[in-house]
Parts: sequence; C-alpha cells; structure tokens
Amino acid sequence: MTDLVVRNARLLDRDDLVDLVADDGRWTQVGPDLAVDAEREIDAAGRLVTAPLVDCHLHLDASLTAGRPRFNASGTLIEGIHVWGELKESLTVDDVYERAKEIVRWSAAQGTLYIRAHADVSAKNEAPVRGLLRLRDELADLVTIQVTAFPQDGLYSDPRNEGLFERAIELGVDCLGGIPHYEPTAELGLAEVHRVFDLAARHKRRIDVHCDETDDPASRFLEVMADDTVRHGLSGRVTASHCTAMGSYEPYYSSKLHGFLRRAGINIVVNPFANSLIQGRLDPYPKRRGFAQLKELLAAGVNVSLGNDVIMDPWYLLGRADMVEAASLALHFTYMSGLDEIPEMLRCATERGARTLGVEDEYGIEEGKPADCVVFDAPSALEVLRLHPARRWVVRRGRVIAETEPSHTTLLGEPVTFRPPL
Ligand code: FE2
Repeated sequence: MTDLVVRNARLLDRDDLVDLVADDGRWTQVGPDLAVDAEREIDAAGRLVTAPLVDCHLHLDASLTAGRPRFNASGTLIEGIHVWGELKESLTVDDVYERAKEIVRWSAAQGTLYIRAHADVSAKNEAPVRGLLRLRDELADLVTIQVTAFPQDGLYSDPRNEGLFERAIELGVDCLGGIPHYEPTAELGLAEVHRVFDLAARHKRRIDVHCDETDDPASRFLEVMADDTVRHGLSGRVTASHCTAMGSYEPYYSSKLHGFLRRAGINIVVNPFANSLIQGRLDPYPKRRGFAQLKELLAAGVNVSLGNDVIMDPWYLLGRADMVEAASLALHFTYMSGLDEIPEMLRCATERGARTLGVEDEYGIEEGKPADCVVFDAPSALEVLRLHPARRWVVRRGRVIAETEPSHTTLLGEPVTFRPPL
C-alpha cells in the first residue's frame, strides 16, 4: 500500500494522461494506468498537474500593513518607501511573523510551495528579519521559504546600515539583497553591488538584488551585476529583481545586455503587480510600461521567473498571493500571448522559479523527487491563464494539504461554465 496516487493527470510536457504515485514523501512511479493501491486516491480526470508554483519575490515583512500608519496617497514607489519607513521601526517579531504566516497560508492553499521573501534589514530593528527567519524554520514542512536580507534604504545612506546588513548574515539569511539605484550616488550604487558580491562569496549565500527598479534608462547596475557574477564564478546563484529600467533601454544596449546576462547565468525576476502601477506613472502620454524585457530575455536564453512582490502593503492595496494572477498580468504586459508563449508563462511561475531559487534538483514531477504538485481545475496552461481556476488539490511531500471546491454558476437555472461548448 502506497501513500498517494493521483490518477489521470495531464502534464505540461506530454499528451497522454498519467498516474503519479507517492510514497514516503517522494514520487515513486509516473506513468499511464499504474496498478497500485494507495491510502489516498485522487482522480485528476484530465486536469493539468504541475510541480508547485514558485513565488520568487515577496516582501512578506510588509504584507497586510496597508494603512499603517497611513495610506500611500500618491501611489509612487518613493511614498511607499516613506510610509514603510514610518512603520518599520515599531514592528515586533510576532507582528511580522503572524502577518507573513497568513500570506504563506494563502500561498500554499493556491499551490505556491516555494517563496523567496525579502526582509528589510535597514530598519534599526531586527523584527523583520527575525520574524521571517522564524517563519522559514517553523513552516518548513509546509512551504520552502528563503529569506533575503534587503537593505531597503541602501547600504550607504546611513553609516549604520552596513553593520545591520552584516548582522542579518550572522542571523542566518539565505540570500543577500541590494538596491543600488536607490543609493545617494551612482558611485555608491556601484560600491554597493561590489560589496554585496564580496559578502555573498565570502559567506556562501545566494544573491537577489533589487536592480534598476526605475524608469531611468541611465540606471545600468545590471551590467555590473553580470560582470561581478562572472568575476566571482557565481553563475546560477545570482538574481536581479524588477529591472524595470530595461523597459526604457534602447535596442542596441538591450541586445548587448542580453548577451552579458546569458553569459553570466543571471536569473531575472519580473514583479508585475507593483511595477505595472508604479513604472511610467510620472510619464506624460505616451507612457512607458516599465517591465524587464521578459520575452526577449527568454529568447536570449536567460532564465526569467515571477513574484507577487507586494500584497496589501504601502505599495499595493490589492493582492491575494496568487501566482497564476501574477503570470496572467505579466503575460499581458510583456506580449507573451502566443500559443507556445502561454505555457512558457506558466513555466515562469513554476519550473523557472525553481531554477531561480536553486532548488531544481529537488523539484519536478519525476520519480525520486519530492512528491509535490498542484492540480488545476483546467486541462491546459492556456485554460489556466484564461480562467485562473481553482487549485483543486495541492500536494506537499505526498500529502494533500489543500483542497478547493470549484465555484458553480447558474444563469436562469442553467449552468454557466465559461468554457466553449463541446
Ligand atoms: Fe521588491
């Protein structure tokens, strides 16, 4: 008797339906019509089943603080940073932990079982990083969380910040972050990038820097990150997040940069919720979209993934921690609407995210890997991106951890399915 079998699953990369068998927390068999008895049997009935969704960028320390101590009236990135600055010194570990835990519950219920969180370490208060490290350790059986030390105010805007950043390394963060475009001068931004790489190499941590999150086409710290990645031999371990200035780069520089990024093996994370509202905001019409060049980066062989970034916080009043919504919004802003491009968007929210987090060796629906999956209430990636369907079941380490009954609509007593008639 095995622990779990998921019958009649449709996978992204094959046409026939397969059964997935889990025992002791790992997939033991994947194939059609498997003769096994299981403690728990689920019939996916032709629904799409993928490995878990991956949220590569989430400011969990700020989630659910919208309105504290006041709302962001202008909607700009800068006012959001100021509002957050008015709150963060007064946060407690318990407050950070409880809010972040609630968002992790929303995430897991919708199939997101990997999250890279950012903890602001430029507060003169260790509550954000301590709260998220506690969350990572206490919820490890439910969701795999990586914590990034994020110096929201820069490393050099205050003489105390560099020490606070190094203190977060001592406390045990997984990744080192940065924000070079927010330093007082471009020279200090360069110094920040080099410092982050030196510390990451010395302490053997991954890197995830907020890079060029601006509409300024002269903001070009990404090329410095690419060069430092090669110099330190950190290919695959470095991520640049947001990179919205790329939406304002001219074609020649863009194509040169794509080559640098591919050679360096850098991951790029697109965060569609906040950046669709913040970037281009101050432009007269025509307004820039302000997104990293997702489609062109994929074509150039650069790994791109996605994040929720902001949920009910000083930058964004909305959000419900759904990576399918994030993929759908990114699809629209980056023109990824072709028949073959839509499944690729779902890969940006799943397997490409696993590559960004560096967990790909223990991720995927393959024999021997951890038995994690999401059963979407839809048969294809196209239908997932079109309908944003319920996650019918979510499986973590061979155990069903979440179930959702799909909604049921009638019109004049007749069912409405939002699917074309057969
Ligand atoms: Fe961010």
